Amino acid sequence: MAILARVHAVCCQKGGVGKTTITVNLAAVVDQVLGGDDPSVLVVGTDPQRSMDWWASRVGDDIPFAYTETDSPSDLERLRDADFSHVFVDTPGSLENEHILRSVLKSADDAIVPITTEPLTFVPADTTITQVIEPLGVPYTVVVNLWDPRDGRVDLDDTLTFARKKNWPLANSVIRRYKIHSRAAAEGVVCTQYAKSRVALEAQQDILRLALELGYGRTR
Ligand SMILES: Nc1ncnc2c1ncn2[C@@H]1O[C@H](COP(=O)(O)OP(=O)(O)OP(=O)(O)O)[C@@H](O)[C@H]1O
Ligand SMILES: [Mg+2]
Repeated sequence: MAILARVHAVCCQKGGVGKTTITVNLAAVVDQVLGGDDPSVLVVGTDPQRSMDWWASRVGDDIPFAYTETDSPSDLERLRDADFSHVFVDTPGSLENEHILRSVLKSADDAIVPITTEPLTFVPADTTITQVIEPLGVPYTVVVNLWDPRDGRVDLDDTLTFARKKNWPLANSVIRRYKIHSRAAAEGVVCTQYAKSRVALEAQQDILRLALELGYGRTR
């Protein structure tokens, strides 16, 4: 019997919190951990903006994972049948496309909900969690992205306090803001392909730590 893929939905109905960045880079590190000649990881873009597809096409033949774009409910509801160990799904950052997010979550094993240290992102995350993720019974983890250590810990601590008051399952791993991440799409690389430097290692480490904390890197 075929082994079912583990499907991870990266979602928050707010633009710019890092869904595409986290999807692509988690896929890259998990594929690296799993090794093998053929890709073990599939990335599915469901956002009408097609930003994952654009990024992946910039990487070209060196892309470490397989990728595809679809928002067809019948495709999305069969993601576990994909012949991969893990499927990471990038979802739209808007309320209008909630039907796409719902189709993805119906086949998801878990969801990752990025927020940033800007309070403006808290309410949309709460809406996604209470109105879409929790009613569908999908386990989820909230992840703080885009924290800039140069700004000090105040905003991060406020964000963590808010998340704890909400009783959100919160990742210990925080993804720091690095220019190397924001330039990656235009430069046509994913985090496992960053040129070696201290900053590159730190940036990769955040993604790897998150993958480890979420228990990825093994088959079902
Ligand atoms: N940890 C990070 N460090 C630096 N830049 C980041 C980081 N995470 C995301 N970014 C940048 O922030 C911007 C928004 O990120 P991204 O496109 O991944 O968000 P999104 O949630 O997918 O947005 P949308 O809802 O519009 O699809 C991009 O320019 C991206 O490069
Ligand atoms: Mg996106």
